[in-house]
Amino acid sequence: MKSKASAPGKVILFGEHFVVYGIKTILCAINKRITVTAENIDEEKISIKSNIGDLVLEPNKPISEIDSPLKPFYYLANKMLQTQNQTKGIKIIVESDIPLGVGLGSSSACCVAGAAAISRLFTETSKEEILELAIEAEKTIFQNTSGADCTVCTYGGIIEYDKKNGFTKIKSEPNFHLIIANSNIKHSTESVVTGVKQFKEKNETKFSQLCNDESKLVEDVLKLLKDNNIKELGQKIIQNQKYLETIGVSNEKLRDMIQVGQKSSFGAKITGAGGGGCIFALTDESNFEHSINQFKDKKYECFSVKIDFKGLDTF
Ligand code: MEV
Repeated sequence: MKSKASAPGKVILFGEHFVVYGIKTILCAINKRITVTAENIDEEKISIKSNIGDLVLEPNKPISEIDSPLKPFYYLANKMLQTQNQTKGIKIIVESDIPLGVGLGSSSACCVAGAAAISRLFTETSKEEILELAIEAEKTIFQNTSGADCTVCTYGGIIEYDKKNGFTKIKSEPNFHLIIANSNIKHSTESVVTGVKQFKEKNETKFSQLCNDESKLVEDVLKLLKDNNIKELGQKIIQNQKYLETIGVSNEKLRDMIQVGQKSSFGAKITGAGGGGCIFALTDESNFEHSINQFKDKKYECFSVKIDFKGLDTF
């Protein structure tokens, strides 16, 4: 038996990091995907092949003993073998067109597509169950995940999300184009999130003020999205970037890229954890060409993405 699933990557438009502390975030799925194929095999092995390497292990190993970015797949396969009382193995193949480890949701998309492909080898699973499994799997590499990334990778489109209330789809289909520029500095979400926690502990009052400011900004953005007010949205992006600078998740290269974006588009900011990874610039057809050419002139790796409205897909 074979089962296949694919899930999109994501861009956090507003509210990364603050979402970990309960503030609402706005994010969208993008038209770059991870595809996972899972297959039952007779050998008692969990075998994972991907473009970042392979992992082949016997089932029932303690998850804490596994040191591999492919650990979430092992966790999912092992869990399904255990809960379904199976003694055989699973082979998993991962194909990705999302650049890895740069804040575009590659690991969440892996967890979502992995949860779907692996669980559906044994049983029909709903999107809700797949999301729950995916977040569990993501926690094997990043314990404090807010769950926002896996949620948008599952449901697609633009969503608002907070830890307490979960997600709501945002119905508008804004006509913006996002340009992504990659700093090619790899980051670990976990260590950047730990850095923010340290900032918070040293600056409790300031951090709490920033949470209030971010929360207000997100509410304003929800109105602007309804009105498709792209210029004002750009201003909010610039404002959000200031908050991210304050909590220390930016660096010189990211600032330079953001400057290129802010001069040539409606607004630009980090997306995801920061410390490296990607920034995005908000454009429409009036300034898209000009803005992307500015990034290219400066030799930054850049590409445009569209919103993915499909989310998780199973075959
Ligand atoms: C990472 O893509 C987003 C963060 O807000 C962490 C999280 O939400 O789990 C930095």
